[in-house]
Amino acid sequence: MQKLTAAMKISGSVEICQRLGEISGGKILDVGTEQGEFISTLMKTLKDYGSFIGIDISEEDLEKARAKFREMPVEFKTMNAEKMDFHDDSFDTVCISHSIHHLENPEKVLIEMKRVLRPGGYLILQESFSDGEQSEDKLTSILIHHWHAKVDSFRGIPHFETLSRNQLRDLIGSMNMSNIEVFESKRYVKCLFCDDMKQCENPKDKDIIDFEIKGIDNLLEKMKDHPKYEDLFQEAVALRERVKETGSSPASLLFFICRK
Ligand SMILES: C[S@@+](CC[C@H](N)C(=O)[O-])C[C@H]1O[C@@H](n2cnc3c(N)ncnc32)[C@H](O)[C@@H]1O
Repeated sequence: MQKLTAAMKISGSVEICQRLGEISGGKILDVGTEQGEFISTLMKTLKDYGSFIGIDISEEDLEKARAKFREMPVEFKTMNAEKMDFHDDSFDTVCISHSIHHLENPEKVLIEMKRVLRPGGYLILQESFSDGEQSEDKLTSILIHHWHAKVDSFRGIPHFETLSRNQLRDLIGSMNMSNIEVFESKRYVKCLFCDDMKQCENPKDKDIIDFEIKGIDNLLEKMKDHPKYEDLFQEAVALRERVKETGSSPASLLFFICRK
């Protein structure tokens, strides 16, 4: 772990890290893995682990993920999490990070995750939320995310607005898990291990603002021929102005650890 800044110490992420440090992960499934970012976090935080399988409906990022975890006990498969190609009770831990709002049918995926988890095994879920006390810079990041989700939907890519805390709690509640532990954090757990921790302390850091504006502009460029382009353009102008004024930092998140 890096030397923690004062804000990081009180963010809530340290408590999550400490709790993960008590868990032996065993054979772990990461759903909606993209480039396996959450696998890296779990490798650094769990007490120990056996192996990982990361699945994603899209093959797009899996080659990069395979290269990143070469010669480690990690495998990546293209698979729709709504209908997994695994036997019942075949994992000791199942997890999903920042992917719930990308799912067309989150309930179906959570049922599948529970099916493949062995009795007594751990379910770990982390996801940003949109409500509660969020600072102006966090609200900016939420609004930019909502816009990204809207543009993706126009492009036929399932992507939904950031959920509220109650929506996330209801989803977990629908799974009938036991020993449900809920943590709230203003920062990602992965930030505890980041060399640039200090930079993120300042939401108005030039690199952060430039990064957000570049993300908006890149996506807008892809929509040039879309009938809704003019509306999206106006919204992008407003978001660019807002991010320059408030800066941006990721929304707070809920982190669930529960047992089957
Ligand atoms: C924001 S990314 C995940 C980020 C990553 N887990 C992390 O923590 O950094 C969301 C991913 O969910 C994947 N996804 C969406 N629907 C899916 C489904 N039905 N089954 C598996 N993966 C899915 C998308 O392809 C995308 O790569």
